[in-house]
Amino acid sequence: MLYNHLKKSVAHKVLDYITPNSIIGIGTGTTVSYFIQELGSIKKLIKGTVSSSISSTICLNNLGIPVFDLNEVGTLSIYIDSADEVNNNLQMIKGGGEALTKEKILASVSKKFICIVDESKQVNVLGQFPLPVEIIPMASSYIISELNKLGGEAKLRKNVITDNGNLIVDVYNLNITDPLNMEQKINSFPGVVTVGIFAQRKADILLVGTKNGIKTIINN
Ligand code: A5P
Repeated sequence: MLYNHLKKSVAHKVLDYITPNSIIGIGTGTTVSYFIQELGSIKKLIKGTVSSSISSTICLNNLGIPVFDLNEVGTLSIYIDSADEVNNNLQMIKGGGEALTKEKILASVSKKFICIVDESKQVNVLGQFPLPVEIIPMASSYIISELNKLGGEAKLRKNVITDNGNLIVDVYNLNITDPLNMEQKINSFPGVVTVGIFAQRKADILLVGTKNGIKTIINN
């Protein structure tokens, strides 16, 4: 695919941030699957990982990389994941791969969140990518109508049950000019498990794979 070589290069670059004997939080998606392959080459140097999804766990198991339960390890020094969109403040939309709730938990318990993306993911204003919201099934019509009142068009993602047994609603055509406020508002609807806006816990470091090499942006 068009951006796969940029995803691969950024997945390789992030190895520079791994410290020996650490336990690493692992996100979900194609960029992360390239990172997991890279991690396989240094697996003897690390203690293990905590995974955000069944799909990432399967990739890690296949390479013989230890996967721990988050409750066994408590906090993490580093979390590495991609995003569907990221703005200049390192706030993100995530959840295209349905794993947003566990991703947000791992991001929150990690001292450092490094986001790895190809250049197509960088935007000025979040919202061109449909905003994923994980919801409790019985609340779906109520939440869809509340989300529509925000100005977007909310649609249930077809044939998807999350790893947590819930549903995903995608909200199209939202112009998210105040991500922090929007994150808090949507999270306050009863029945919402997590919204895919990562503004309260944004990335600390963004690595962007571009046609001219890797760009590094550090959150101040
Ligand atoms: C997974 O739920 C998402 O948050 C991913 O981080 C996002 O979808 C990026 O995926 P790709 O690496 O496949 O583009």
